[in-house]
Amino acid sequence: MAKSIRKAVFPVAGLGTRFLPATKASPKEMLPVVDKPLIQYAVEEAVEAGVEVMVFVTGRNKTAISNHFDTAYELESELESRGKDKMLEVVRSIVPSHVSCVFIRQSMPLGLGHAVLCAEPVVGNEPFAVILADDLIHNSSKGCLSQMVEAFSTTGCSILGTEVIDPQETGSYGIVDTNGSEQLAEVKGIVEKPHPDEAPSNRAVVGRYILTGDIFHHLAQTGKGAGGEIQLTDGIARLMQEQGVMAYAFQGTRYDCGSKLGYLMATVDYALYHEELADEFKDWLRRRFIS
Ligand code: G1P
Repeated sequence: MAKSIRKAVFPVAGLGTRFLPATKASPKEMLPVVDKPLIQYAVEEAVEAGVEVMVFVTGRNKTAISNHFDTAYELESELESRGKDKMLEVVRSIVPSHVSCVFIRQSMPLGLGHAVLCAEPVVGNEPFAVILADDLIHNSSKGCLSQMVEAFSTTGCSILGTEVIDPQETGSYGIVDTNGSEQLAEVKGIVEKPHPDEAPSNRAVVGRYILTGDIFHHLAQTGKGAGGEIQLTDGIARLMQEQGVMAYAFQGTRYDCGSKLGYLMATVDYALYHEELADEFKDWLRRRFIS
């Protein structure tokens, strides 16, 4: 049986300009959806999939992320002395004790491919996951990364999480050309953000990847691509010359929390899933729209 996935890389160095001014002094990955920051949803998905080492590739103004995953002594003792046990549990269970967090600084914003390459000293030569926290994925049973890890344990090769998108939106995604349209299909080609007229399909890569350690030497040789950045997509295209890469159509709903509309949709849906809020929020929505 193929190896499991022990490490996940979270590229979190981006500026988040689409959410200014909210992201002027705090990272976009810390934007909350109801009561948890986006990056916590991403980490929880990785923990559920069996990941034990979280590797954050950060940039300037990102200390809130490392603080979030660190112990907050003052807050904990305050909650303890006030007998706020439930809150204390919430704060203490952000990362389980068997999980470690590693922070690497990407000193130049050279692109997603470069950010992933920055994680090589920690990941080494083993298969690992990449999660883009902007893409929030909800599934009522198994999380997206768990599904992909399961597929990886049968194939042993790199796997890209994919979704069929509106053909007019290919210019916002990495687009794959696959052998067939099965849930797990071999990738024949991949291109970053093609114009709809030039896109090989409308099967888009979303922010979930399982990659073999071989990706690193390809990324090290990948020059600037779309948008003048070192693209992960281009590194994957090179990897495909040497080994199989699969596309996996995950089960679940993806919210593009890198856009205001997607973020609002996620906020509404997650409030409707929320144990404490769902009923009252539903009532309010009804009154708001049917009056
Ligand atoms: C990145 C990747 C792209 C992928 C997308 C998924 O683009 O470069 O291939 O489809 O994430 O969200 P970005 O959205 O960072 O521009």
